[in-house]
Amino acid sequence: MPIPTSLTGGILRDLDLQLIGGAWPADLRGEMVISAPEPNADVGYCLFGFGAMIRISMRPGTHGAPAGRFALRSKVIDTPSKRLYDKMPGAFNASTFGMNSAFGFPNQANTAPLPWGDRLFATWDVGRPVEIDPITLEFLGEVGGRDCWGDQTIPIGDVLPFYFSSAHPVIDPDRELMWTVKLFPTADFSMQLHVIAWDGEGTEVRRWPISDATVVGSSHTLSQTRDWLILADSGNFKTDMGEMSGGPRTVMIDEGAPVYMIRKDQLLASPSGTPFTPRFSAVAPTTGHFYAKWNDDDGVQVLFEHMDLMDLGFQLRAGDLDANGRPLAPATVGFYNMAMAPNSLSEWTFDPATGAGTRTAHFREDWTFNLELSAMDWSTEGLAHPTLHHVAYQGWRPDAVTNRALDIYRAAGRLGPLPSEETPGVLASFRRDGLELAESWTYHDTGDHISSPTFAPRNPGTRPGASRHAGDDPGGHDGYVVLPVLSDNGFRVEVFDAAHVGRGPLAVLGAPDGECLPAILHSAWMPEVERRVEAERLDFASELDPDAVDRLDDQLADVLRLVAGELHDAHTG
Ligand SMILES: [Fe+2]
Repeated sequence: MPIPTSLTGGILRDLDLQLIGGAWPADLRGEMVISAPEPNADVGYCLFGFGAMIRISMRPGTHGAPAGRFALRSKVIDTPSKRLYDKMPGAFNASTFGMNSAFGFPNQANTAPLPWGDRLFATWDVGRPVEIDPITLEFLGEVGGRDCWGDQTIPIGDVLPFYFSSAHPVIDPDRELMWTVKLFPTADFSMQLHVIAWDGEGTEVRRWPISDATVVGSSHTLSQTRDWLILADSGNFKTDMGEMSGGPRTVMIDEGAPVYMIRKDQLLASPSGTPFTPRFSAVAPTTGHFYAKWNDDDGVQVLFEHMDLMDLGFQLRAGDLDANGRPLAPATVGFYNMAMAPNSLSEWTFDPATGAGTRTAHFREDWTFNLELSAMDWSTEGLAHPTLHHVAYQGWRPDAVTNRALDIYRAAGRLGPLPSEETPGVLASFRRDGLELAESWTYHDTGDHISSPTFAPRNPGTRPGASRHAGDDPGGHDGYVVLPVLSDNGFRVEVFDAAHVGRGPLAVLGAPDGECLPAILHSAWMPEVERRVEAERLDFASELDPDAVDRLDDQLADVLRLVAGELHDAHTG
Protein backbone atom coordinates (compact mmCIF):
# COMPACT_ATOMS: atom_id res chain seq x y z
CA MET A 1 0.00 0.00 0.00
CA PRO A 2 1.26 3.52 -0.68
CA ILE A 3 1.49 5.98 2.17
CA PRO A 4 -2.00 7.17 3.18
CA THR A 5 -3.43 9.91 1.00
CA SER A 6 -4.69 11.45 4.22
CA LEU A 7 -1.11 12.42 5.23
CA THR A 8 -1.50 15.41 2.96
CA GLY A 9 -5.29 15.42 2.58
CA GLY A 10 -6.49 14.75 6.15
CA ILE A 11 -8.20 17.41 8.20
CA LEU A 12 -7.31 18.59 11.70
CA ARG A 13 -10.47 18.51 13.78
CA ASP A 14 -11.90 17.58 17.14
CA LEU A 15 -12.94 13.96 17.64
CA ASP A 16 -14.40 11.94 20.48
CA LEU A 17 -12.44 8.74 20.07
CA GLN A 18 -14.04 5.45 21.01
CA LEU A 19 -12.60 2.20 22.27
CA ILE A 20 -12.64 -0.24 19.35
CA GLY A 21 -10.42 -2.96 20.76
CA GLY A 22 -9.07 -4.34 24.03
CA ALA A 23 -9.54 -2.80 27.47
CA TRP A 24 -8.40 0.68 28.50
CA PRO A 25 -5.88 0.53 31.38
CA ALA A 26 -7.31 2.16 34.50
CA ASP A 27 -3.90 3.50 35.57
CA LEU A 28 -3.26 5.32 32.28
CA ARG A 29 -3.87 9.02 32.79
CA GLY A 30 -2.77 12.42 31.62
CA GLU A 31 -2.66 13.95 28.18
CA MET A 32 -0.88 13.10 24.96
CA VAL A 33 0.06 16.29 23.11
CA ILE A 34 1.08 16.27 19.46
CA SER A 35 2.42 18.96 17.13
CA ALA A 36 1.36 19.08 13.51
CA PRO A 37 1.62 21.45 10.56
CA GLU A 38 -1.84 22.39 9.34
CA PRO A 39 -2.22 21.31 5.70
CA ASN A 40 -2.28 24.48 3.64
CA ALA A 41 -2.86 24.47 -0.08
CA ASP A 42 -0.80 27.65 -0.41
CA VAL A 43 2.28 26.01 1.10
CA GLY A 44 4.01 23.57 -1.19
CA TYR A 45 5.71 21.53 1.55
CA CYS A 46 3.94 19.65 4.31
CA LEU A 47 6.49 20.63 6.97
CA PHE A 48 5.88 24.36 6.58
CA GLY A 49 2.21 24.75 7.54
CA PHE A 50 1.00 26.74 10.53
CA GLY A 51 1.47 24.78 13.75
CA ALA A 52 -1.39 23.03 15.45
CA MET A 53 -1.46 21.38 18.85
CA ILE A 54 -3.48 18.21 19.27
CA ARG A 55 -4.34 16.93 22.74
CA ILE A 56 -5.64 13.40 23.27
CA SER A 57 -6.93 12.79 26.79
CA MET A 58 -6.02 9.47 28.33
CA ARG A 59 -9.01 9.59 30.69
CA PRO A 60 -12.44 9.13 29.10
CA GLY A 61 -15.17 11.69 29.61
CA THR A 62 -12.85 14.68 30.02
CA HIS A 63 -12.40 17.89 28.01
CA GLY A 64 -15.95 17.74 26.73
CA ALA A 65 -16.01 14.13 25.56
CA PRO A 66 -19.10 12.13 26.56
CA ALA A 67 -18.75 9.28 29.05
CA GLY A 68 -16.66 6.49 27.65
CA ARG A 69 -15.19 8.61 24.85
CA PHE A 70 -11.69 10.12 24.68
CA ALA A 71 -11.35 13.77 23.70
CA LEU A 72 -9.05 14.55 20.78
CA ARG A 73 -8.91 18.32 20.56
CA SER A 74 -6.89 20.25 18.03
CA LYS A 75 -6.25 23.91 17.46
CA VAL A 76 -4.08 25.80 15.04
CA ILE A 77 -2.07 27.98 17.40
CA ASP A 78 -3.21 31.58 17.23
CA THR A 79 0.26 33.10 17.23
CA PRO A 80 0.77 36.67 16.07
CA SER A 81 1.86 35.18 12.73
CA LYS A 82 -1.33 33.11 12.37
CA ARG A 83 -3.59 35.96 13.44
CA LEU A 84 -2.00 38.24 10.84
CA TYR A 85 -2.36 35.54 8.19
CA ASP A 86 -6.02 34.96 9.02
CA LYS A 87 -6.79 38.66 8.74
CA MET A 88 -4.72 39.31 5.64
CA PRO A 89 -3.69 36.15 3.78
CA GLY A 90 -2.88 38.24 0.74
CA ALA A 91 0.09 39.73 2.60
CA PHE A 92 1.69 36.29 2.76
CA ASN A 93 3.58 34.56 -0.04
CA ALA A 94 4.05 30.81 0.01
CA SER A 95 6.79 28.94 -1.79
CA THR A 96 8.50 25.59 -1.52
CA PHE A 97 10.99 27.30 0.82
CA GLY A 98 8.31 28.37 3.27
CA MET A 99 6.05 31.31 3.79
CA ASN A 100 7.09 34.92 3.90
CA SER A 101 5.08 38.06 4.38
CA ALA A 102 5.16 41.81 4.46
CA PHE A 103 5.41 41.44 8.24
CA GLY A 104 8.33 39.00 8.13
CA PHE A 105 8.71 35.26 8.29
CA PRO A 106 5.90 33.62 10.31
CA ASN A 107 6.74 31.48 13.33
CA GLN A 108 4.95 28.23 12.48
CA ALA A 109 5.70 26.40 15.79
CA ASN A 110 4.60 23.14 14.23
CA THR A 111 7.17 20.47 15.14
CA ALA A 112 7.20 19.40 18.78
CA PRO A 113 5.30 19.88 22.03
CA LEU A 114 7.48 20.63 25.05
CA PRO A 115 5.86 20.23 28.47
CA TRP A 116 7.52 22.05 31.37
CA GLY A 117 5.74 20.99 34.54
CA ASP A 118 2.14 22.07 33.95
CA ARG A 119 3.16 24.47 31.15
CA LEU A 120 3.21 23.58 27.46
CA PHE A 121 5.32 24.97 24.62
CA ALA A 122 5.34 24.36 20.87
CA THR A 123 8.58 24.53 18.93
CA TRP A 124 10.19 24.46 15.52
CA ASP A 125 13.61 25.01 14.03
CA VAL A 126 12.88 28.43 12.61
CA GLY A 127 11.35 30.47 15.41
CA ARG A 128 11.20 31.13 19.11
CA PRO A 129 9.40 28.54 21.27
CA VAL A 130 5.74 29.44 21.74
CA GLU A 131 3.81 28.87 24.97
CA ILE A 132 0.22 27.73 24.75
CA ASP A 133 -2.48 27.10 27.31
CA PRO A 134 -2.60 23.32 27.90
CA ILE A 135 -6.37 23.51 28.53
CA THR A 136 -7.63 25.84 25.79
CA LEU A 137 -4.61 25.37 23.44
CA GLU A 138 -4.58 29.15 22.94
CA PHE A 139 -1.40 31.14 22.35
CA LEU A 140 0.13 32.72 25.46
CA GLY A 141 3.44 34.17 24.34
CA GLU A 142 6.75 33.60 22.61
CA VAL A 143 9.84 32.83 24.69
CA GLY A 144 12.10 35.82 25.23
CA GLY A 145 11.98 39.33 23.84
CA ARG A 146 13.71 40.14 20.58
CA ASP A 147 15.91 42.64 22.42
CA CYS A 148 17.53 39.63 24.14
CA TRP A 149 17.49 37.26 21.15
CA GLY A 150 19.32 39.97 19.25
CA ASP A 151 19.79 40.37 15.54
CA GLN A 152 17.61 38.22 13.31
CA THR A 153 19.20 35.21 11.65
CA ILE A 154 18.06 36.68 8.36
CA PRO A 155 16.65 40.22 8.50
CA ILE A 156 13.59 39.55 6.36
CA GLY A 157 10.94 41.53 8.19
CA ASP A 158 10.70 44.14 10.87
CA VAL A 159 7.58 42.90 12.64
CA LEU A 160 7.97 39.13 12.94
CA PRO A 161 11.60 38.44 13.84
CA PHE A 162 13.22 35.52 12.04
CA TYR A 163 15.38 33.26 14.19
CA PHE A 164 16.81 29.85 13.33
CA SER A 165 16.54 27.90 16.57
CA SER A 166 15.84 24.30 17.62
CA ALA A 167 12.74 22.12 17.50
CA HIS A 168 13.93 20.34 20.64
CA PRO A 169 14.93 22.66 23.47
CA VAL A 170 15.36 20.94 26.85
CA ILE A 171 14.15 21.74 30.33
CA ASP A 172 16.85 21.59 32.99
CA PRO A 173 15.19 20.16 36.10
CA ASP A 174 18.06 21.11 38.44
CA ARG A 175 18.30 24.71 37.33
CA GLU A 176 14.65 25.34 36.34
CA LEU A 177 15.72 26.60 32.92
CA MET A 178 14.77 26.14 29.31
CA TRP A 179 17.87 25.70 27.15
CA THR A 180 17.67 26.38 23.44
CA VAL A 181 19.76 27.95 20.68
CA LYS A 182 19.81 30.72 18.13
CA LEU A 183 21.76 30.29 14.89
CA PHE A 184 23.51 33.23 13.32
CA PRO A 185 25.16 33.33 9.86
CA THR A 186 28.92 33.34 9.52
CA ALA A 187 31.08 34.62 6.69
CA ASP A 188 31.58 31.08 5.32
CA PHE A 189 27.82 30.41 4.91
CA SER A 190 27.54 28.22 8.00
CA MET A 191 25.77 29.32 11.16
CA GLN A 192 27.21 29.91 14.61
CA LEU A 193 25.42 28.49 17.62
CA HIS A 194 24.33 30.79 20.41
CA VAL A 195 23.02 29.06 23.53
CA ILE A 196 19.94 30.63 25.07
CA ALA A 197 18.69 30.14 28.63
CA TRP A 198 15.31 31.23 29.95
CA ASP A 199 14.10 30.85 33.53
CA GLY A 200 10.41 30.68 32.59
CA GLU A 201 9.47 34.17 33.78
CA GLY A 202 9.42 37.44 31.90
CA THR A 203 10.93 38.41 28.62
CA GLU A 204 14.64 38.21 29.38
CA VAL A 205 16.79 35.40 28.04
CA ARG A 206 20.54 35.03 28.39
CA ARG A 207 22.53 34.32 25.25
CA TRP A 208 26.11 33.22 24.74
CA PRO A 209 27.83 32.85 21.33
CA ILE A 210 29.63 29.49 21.24
CA SER A 211 33.07 29.97 19.74
CA ASP A 212 33.83 27.93 16.60
CA ALA A 213 30.60 25.95 17.06
CA THR A 214 28.88 26.05 13.71
CA VAL A 215 26.22 24.06 11.88
CA VAL A 216 25.44 23.92 8.20
CA GLY A 217 22.22 21.95 8.57
CA SER A 218 20.24 22.70 11.68
CA SER A 219 20.49 22.34 15.43
CA HIS A 220 17.36 20.22 15.60
CA THR A 221 17.97 18.69 19.04
CA LEU A 222 19.56 19.77 22.31
CA SER A 223 20.34 17.20 24.95
CA GLN A 224 21.81 17.42 28.41
CA THR A 225 23.39 15.60 31.31
CA ARG A 226 23.51 16.95 34.82
CA ASP A 227 26.57 19.07 33.98
CA TRP A 228 26.74 19.30 30.18
CA LEU A 229 24.69 20.55 27.26
CA ILE A 230 25.16 18.57 24.06
CA LEU A 231 24.61 20.20 20.65
CA ALA A 232 25.16 18.80 17.18
CA ASP A 233 24.70 19.67 13.55
CA SER A 234 21.70 17.67 12.38
CA GLY A 235 22.88 17.89 8.80
CA ASN A 236 19.64 16.48 7.38
CA PHE A 237 18.12 19.67 6.06
CA LYS A 238 20.65 21.65 4.10
CA THR A 239 19.99 24.78 2.14
CA ASP A 240 20.88 24.51 -1.54
CA MET A 241 21.60 27.99 -2.88
CA GLY A 242 21.51 26.64 -6.47
CA GLU A 243 18.03 25.28 -5.90
CA MET A 244 16.92 28.54 -4.34
CA SER A 245 18.13 30.25 -7.51
CA GLY A 246 15.91 28.00 -9.60
CA GLY A 247 18.33 25.18 -10.42
CA PRO A 248 18.09 21.49 -9.57
CA ARG A 249 18.83 20.37 -6.04
CA THR A 250 22.37 18.97 -5.86
CA VAL A 251 23.37 19.44 -2.21
CA MET A 252 23.50 16.19 -0.23
CA ILE A 253 23.31 15.66 3.50
CA ASP A 254 26.53 15.15 5.43
CA GLU A 255 28.08 11.81 6.28
CA GLY A 256 28.74 12.84 9.88
CA ALA A 257 28.15 15.75 12.21
CA PRO A 258 30.14 17.79 14.72
CA VAL A 259 29.15 17.54 18.38
CA TYR A 260 29.64 20.33 20.91
CA MET A 261 29.63 19.92 24.69
CA ILE A 262 29.14 22.89 26.97
CA ARG A 263 29.70 22.85 30.73
CA LYS A 264 26.50 24.37 32.04
CA ASP A 265 27.73 25.95 35.25
CA GLN A 266 30.72 27.55 33.53
CA LEU A 267 28.38 28.99 30.92
CA LEU A 268 25.94 30.31 33.50
CA ALA A 269 28.83 31.88 35.41
CA SER A 270 29.72 33.92 32.31
CA PRO A 271 27.85 37.16 31.68
CA SER A 272 25.28 36.93 28.90
CA GLY A 273 26.94 37.81 25.62
CA THR A 274 30.37 36.43 26.53
CA PRO A 275 31.78 34.04 23.91
CA PHE A 276 32.16 30.54 25.31
CA THR A 277 34.42 27.76 24.09
CA PRO A 278 32.89 24.24 24.00
CA ARG A 279 34.45 20.79 23.88
CA PHE A 280 34.49 19.48 20.31
CA SER A 281 33.64 15.99 19.11
CA ALA A 282 31.91 14.26 16.19
CA VAL A 283 29.45 11.49 15.38
CA ALA A 284 28.34 9.61 12.26
CA PRO A 285 26.00 9.16 10.47
CA THR A 286 24.01 12.38 10.82
CA THR A 287 21.48 12.49 13.59
CA GLY A 288 18.19 14.23 14.04
CA HIS A 289 17.51 13.25 17.62
CA PHE A 290 19.74 12.27 20.51
CA TYR A 291 19.24 11.75 24.20
CA ALA A 292 21.90 11.83 26.92
CA LYS A 293 21.75 10.11 30.28
CA TRP A 294 21.38 12.59 33.10
CA ASN A 295 24.14 10.99 35.18
CA ASP A 296 27.54 11.87 33.70
CA ASP A 297 29.81 10.39 36.36
CA ASP A 298 31.12 7.88 33.78
CA GLY A 299 31.28 10.30 30.87
CA VAL A 300 28.63 11.85 28.67
CA GLN A 301 26.55 8.93 27.44
CA VAL A 302 24.29 9.65 24.48
CA LEU A 303 21.80 7.59 22.49
CA PHE A 304 21.74 8.79 18.88
CA GLU A 305 18.88 8.17 16.49
CA HIS A 306 20.64 8.46 13.16
CA MET A 307 19.02 9.64 9.97
CA ASP A 308 21.09 7.66 7.49
CA LEU A 309 20.26 9.01 4.03
CA MET A 310 17.21 10.85 5.32
CA ASP A 311 17.43 14.03 3.29
CA LEU A 312 14.64 16.34 4.35
CA GLY A 313 15.75 18.99 1.87
CA PHE A 314 14.16 16.99 -0.92
CA GLN A 315 10.47 17.57 -1.34
CA LEU A 316 8.22 15.29 -3.36
CA ARG A 317 7.18 17.32 -6.36
CA ALA A 318 4.71 16.93 -9.18
CA GLY A 319 6.55 15.37 -12.12
CA ASP A 320 8.91 13.30 -9.96
CA LEU A 321 9.19 9.55 -10.34
CA ASP A 322 9.25 7.43 -7.20
CA ALA A 323 11.79 4.76 -6.25
CA ASN A 324 9.95 2.22 -8.39
CA GLY A 325 10.13 4.51 -11.41
CA ARG A 326 6.43 5.33 -11.29
CA PRO A 327 5.00 8.86 -11.36
CA LEU A 328 4.41 10.12 -7.84
CA ALA A 329 0.86 9.72 -6.63
CA PRO A 330 -0.76 13.18 -6.47
CA ALA A 331 -1.42 12.76 -2.75
CA THR A 332 2.29 12.39 -1.97
CA VAL A 333 3.25 15.64 -3.70
CA GLY A 334 4.25 18.06 -0.94
CA PHE A 335 5.37 15.29 1.43
CA TYR A 336 9.02 14.98 2.44
CA ASN A 337 11.44 12.54 0.86
CA MET A 338 11.56 9.49 3.12
CA ALA A 339 14.67 7.48 4.11
CA MET A 340 16.87 6.01 1.40
CA ALA A 341 18.73 3.63 3.76
CA PRO A 342 17.99 1.71 6.95
CA ASN A 343 18.47 4.02 9.92
CA SER A 344 20.85 3.24 12.75
CA LEU A 345 20.63 3.64 16.47
CA SER A 346 23.79 3.98 18.53
CA GLU A 347 25.12 4.72 21.97
CA TRP A 348 28.27 6.76 22.44
CA THR A 349 30.31 7.77 25.45
CA PHE A 350 32.22 11.05 25.31
CA ASP A 351 35.05 12.07 27.58
CA PRO A 352 34.15 15.67 28.34
CA ALA A 353 37.74 16.44 29.30
CA THR A 354 38.99 15.76 25.78
CA GLY A 355 35.85 15.47 23.63
CA ALA A 356 36.91 11.98 22.56
CA GLY A 357 33.88 9.84 21.67
CA THR A 358 33.55 6.06 21.56
CA ARG A 359 30.64 4.18 20.03
CA THR A 360 29.60 1.53 22.55
CA ALA A 361 26.51 0.04 20.89
CA HIS A 362 24.89 0.00 17.48
CA PHE A 363 21.68 -1.36 15.92
CA ARG A 364 20.82 -1.31 12.23
CA GLU A 365 19.02 -4.01 10.27
CA ASP A 366 17.45 -4.29 6.84
CA TRP A 367 14.04 -3.31 8.20
CA THR A 368 15.03 -0.20 10.19
CA PHE A 369 13.90 2.37 7.63
CA ASN A 370 12.44 5.72 8.66
CA LEU A 371 13.43 6.03 12.29
CA GLU A 372 12.03 9.46 12.90
CA LEU A 373 10.06 9.29 16.09
CA SER A 374 10.53 7.67 19.49
CA ALA A 375 9.32 7.58 23.07
CA MET A 376 11.07 7.63 26.42
CA ASP A 377 10.37 8.51 30.03
CA TRP A 378 10.99 12.27 30.29
CA SER A 379 10.44 12.51 34.04
CA THR A 380 13.47 13.67 36.01
CA GLU A 381 13.60 10.23 37.58
CA GLY A 382 13.33 8.52 34.19
CA LEU A 383 16.14 10.61 32.70
CA ALA A 384 18.37 9.57 35.60
CA HIS A 385 17.76 5.85 35.12
CA PRO A 386 16.55 5.12 31.59
CA THR A 387 15.64 1.51 30.92
CA LEU A 388 13.78 1.23 27.60
CA HIS A 389 13.78 3.39 24.48
CA HIS A 390 10.82 2.88 22.14
CA VAL A 391 11.23 3.57 18.43
CA ALA A 392 8.66 3.75 15.62
CA TYR A 393 10.14 2.64 12.29
CA GLN A 394 7.84 3.48 9.40
CA GLY A 395 9.45 1.05 6.97
CA TRP A 396 10.80 1.42 3.43
CA ARG A 397 8.31 3.58 1.50
CA PRO A 398 9.35 3.58 -2.18
CA ASP A 399 6.32 5.64 -3.18
CA ALA A 400 7.57 8.51 -1.00
CA VAL A 401 11.15 8.64 -2.31
CA THR A 402 11.93 10.80 -5.32
CA ASN A 403 14.18 9.62 -8.12
CA ARG A 404 15.87 13.04 -8.07
CA ALA A 405 17.31 12.21 -4.64
CA LEU A 406 18.15 8.60 -5.46
CA ASP A 407 19.99 9.68 -8.60
CA ILE A 408 22.38 12.10 -6.93
CA TYR A 409 23.12 9.76 -4.00
CA ARG A 410 23.64 6.85 -6.40
CA ALA A 411 26.00 8.94 -8.51
CA ALA A 412 27.96 9.80 -5.39
CA GLY A 413 28.26 6.12 -4.46
CA ARG A 414 26.31 6.62 -1.25
CA LEU A 415 23.26 4.51 -2.07
CA GLY A 416 23.18 0.91 -0.84
CA PRO A 417 20.85 -1.92 -1.85
CA LEU A 418 17.18 -1.19 -1.34
CA PRO A 419 14.36 -3.66 -0.61
CA SER A 420 12.48 -4.96 -3.63
CA GLU A 421 9.17 -3.91 -2.13
CA GLU A 422 7.84 -1.77 0.71
CA THR A 423 8.35 -2.98 4.29
CA PRO A 424 5.96 -2.58 7.23
CA GLY A 425 6.13 -0.26 10.21
CA VAL A 426 7.62 -1.65 13.42
CA LEU A 427 7.36 -0.44 17.00
CA ALA A 428 10.53 -1.60 18.77
CA SER A 429 11.77 -1.35 22.37
CA PHE A 430 15.52 -1.24 23.01
CA ARG A 431 17.29 -1.69 26.31
CA ARG A 432 19.50 1.24 27.24
CA ASP A 433 23.15 0.35 27.79
CA GLY A 434 23.73 -1.93 24.82
CA LEU A 435 20.68 -1.43 22.58
CA GLU A 436 19.48 -5.00 22.83
CA LEU A 437 16.19 -5.30 20.95
CA ALA A 438 13.85 -6.20 23.81
CA GLU A 439 10.55 -6.59 21.94
CA SER A 440 8.91 -5.40 18.76
CA TRP A 441 5.49 -5.28 17.09
CA THR A 442 5.07 -5.29 13.32
CA TYR A 443 2.26 -3.54 11.43
CA HIS A 444 1.73 -5.92 8.54
CA ASP A 445 -0.79 -3.60 6.86
CA THR A 446 1.49 -1.15 5.07
CA GLY A 447 -1.49 1.20 4.83
CA ASP A 448 -0.88 1.84 8.57
CA HIS A 449 1.49 4.79 8.89
CA ILE A 450 2.69 4.67 12.48
CA SER A 451 3.52 8.03 13.94
CA SER A 452 5.01 9.55 17.08
CA PRO A 453 4.92 7.20 20.10
CA THR A 454 4.68 8.60 23.62
CA PHE A 455 5.59 6.99 26.92
CA ALA A 456 2.90 7.44 29.57
CA PRO A 457 4.00 6.42 33.07
CA ARG A 458 1.86 4.16 35.24
CA ASN A 459 0.16 6.00 38.12
CA PRO A 460 1.89 9.32 37.49
CA GLY A 461 2.37 11.76 40.31
CA THR A 462 1.35 9.39 43.06
CA ARG A 463 4.76 8.55 44.56
CA PRO A 464 5.59 10.76 47.56
CA GLY A 465 8.58 12.96 46.79
CA ALA A 466 8.60 12.17 43.07
CA SER A 467 7.86 14.61 40.26
CA ARG A 468 4.37 14.90 38.75
CA HIS A 469 5.71 13.41 35.55
CA ALA A 470 7.10 10.25 37.20
CA GLY A 471 5.24 6.98 37.54
CA ASP A 472 5.59 4.01 39.85
CA ASP A 473 8.94 2.79 38.49
CA PRO A 474 10.56 5.35 36.19
CA GLY A 475 12.79 4.56 33.21
CA GLY A 476 10.50 3.74 30.31
CA HIS A 477 9.37 0.17 31.06
CA ASP A 478 6.64 0.68 33.66
CA GLY A 479 3.73 2.29 31.89
CA TYR A 480 2.39 2.50 28.37
CA VAL A 481 3.51 3.33 24.87
CA VAL A 482 0.74 5.28 23.16
CA LEU A 483 1.05 5.19 19.38
CA PRO A 484 -1.03 7.19 16.87
CA VAL A 485 -1.65 5.33 13.61
CA LEU A 486 -2.51 7.29 10.47
CA SER A 487 -4.54 5.36 7.94
CA ASP A 488 -6.99 6.07 5.16
CA ASN A 489 -9.33 3.73 7.03
CA GLY A 490 -9.47 6.15 9.96
CA PHE A 491 -7.22 7.51 12.69
CA ARG A 492 -6.38 5.16 15.57
CA VAL A 493 -4.52 5.35 18.88
CA GLU A 494 -2.96 2.10 20.05
CA VAL A 495 -1.83 1.51 23.63
CA PHE A 496 0.92 -0.99 24.47
CA ASP A 497 2.36 -2.27 27.72
CA ALA A 498 5.74 -0.50 27.63
CA ALA A 499 7.49 -3.60 28.96
CA HIS A 500 5.90 -5.85 26.33
CA VAL A 501 5.17 -4.07 23.08
CA GLY A 502 5.61 -7.46 21.36
CA ARG A 503 2.28 -8.59 22.82
CA GLY A 504 0.48 -6.06 20.64
CA PRO A 505 -1.88 -3.30 21.68
CA LEU A 506 -3.79 -3.62 24.95
CA ALA A 507 -6.34 -1.11 23.77
CA VAL A 508 -7.22 0.66 20.53
CA LEU A 509 -9.11 3.92 20.08
CA GLY A 510 -10.66 4.79 16.76
CA ALA A 511 -12.18 7.83 15.10
CA PRO A 512 -15.95 7.39 15.38
CA ASP A 513 -16.71 7.71 11.68
CA GLY A 514 -13.37 6.71 10.21
CA GLU A 515 -12.09 10.30 10.13
CA CYS A 516 -8.48 10.73 9.03
CA LEU A 517 -5.85 13.07 10.41
CA PRO A 518 -3.08 14.59 8.29
CA ALA A 519 0.62 13.97 8.97
CA ILE A 520 1.53 14.69 12.57
CA LEU A 521 4.98 15.22 14.03
CA HIS A 522 6.35 14.84 17.57
CA SER A 523 4.30 13.97 20.62
CA ALA A 524 4.76 14.14 24.38
CA TRP A 525 2.97 13.12 27.54
CA MET A 526 2.01 15.51 30.32
CA PRO A 527 -0.14 15.29 33.44
CA GLU A 528 -3.69 16.52 33.52
CA VAL A 529 -3.68 20.26 34.17
CA GLU A 530 -6.47 21.96 36.09
CA ARG A 531 -5.58 25.60 35.48
CA ARG A 532 -3.15 27.72 33.54
CA VAL A 533 0.11 28.46 35.36
CA GLU A 534 0.40 32.16 36.15
CA ALA A 535 3.63 33.66 34.80
CA GLU A 536 4.94 36.88 33.34
CA ARG A 537 4.91 36.45 29.57
CA LEU A 538 5.92 38.41 26.48
CA ASP A 539 3.24 40.73 25.11
CA PHE A 540 3.52 40.91 21.31
CA ALA A 541 2.56 44.57 21.37
CA SER A 542 5.48 45.39 23.65
CA GLU A 543 8.12 44.43 21.12
CA LEU A 544 6.66 46.19 18.10
CA ASP A 545 9.01 48.81 16.74
CA PRO A 546 6.90 51.95 16.03
CA ASP A 547 9.18 52.86 13.14
CA ALA A 548 8.66 49.41 11.60
CA VAL A 549 4.89 49.83 11.91
CA ASP A 550 5.13 53.23 10.25
CA ARG A 551 7.01 51.72 7.32
CA LEU A 552 4.04 49.44 6.51
CA ASP A 553 1.31 50.65 4.25
CA ASP A 554 -1.82 51.83 6.01
CA GLN A 555 -3.82 48.65 5.51
CA LEU A 556 -1.04 46.42 6.85
CA ALA A 557 -0.40 48.74 9.76
CA ASP A 558 -4.09 48.74 10.69
CA VAL A 559 -4.21 44.94 10.70
CA LEU A 560 -1.03 44.78 12.74
CA ARG A 561 -2.40 47.19 15.34
CA LEU A 562 -5.61 45.18 15.50
CA VAL A 563 -3.74 41.92 16.13
CA ALA A 564 -1.42 43.56 18.65
CA GLY A 565 -4.48 44.94 20.45
CA GLU A 566 -6.21 41.56 20.54
CA LEU A 567 -3.13 39.90 21.93
CA HIS A 568 -2.56 42.69 24.44
CA ASP A 569 -6.14 42.30 25.68
CA ALA A 570 -5.64 38.53 26.01
CA HIS A 571 -2.32 39.14 27.73
CA THR A 572 -3.70 41.53 30.30
CA GLY A 573 -7.13 39.91 30.60
FE1 LIG B 1 12.41 16.32 15.73
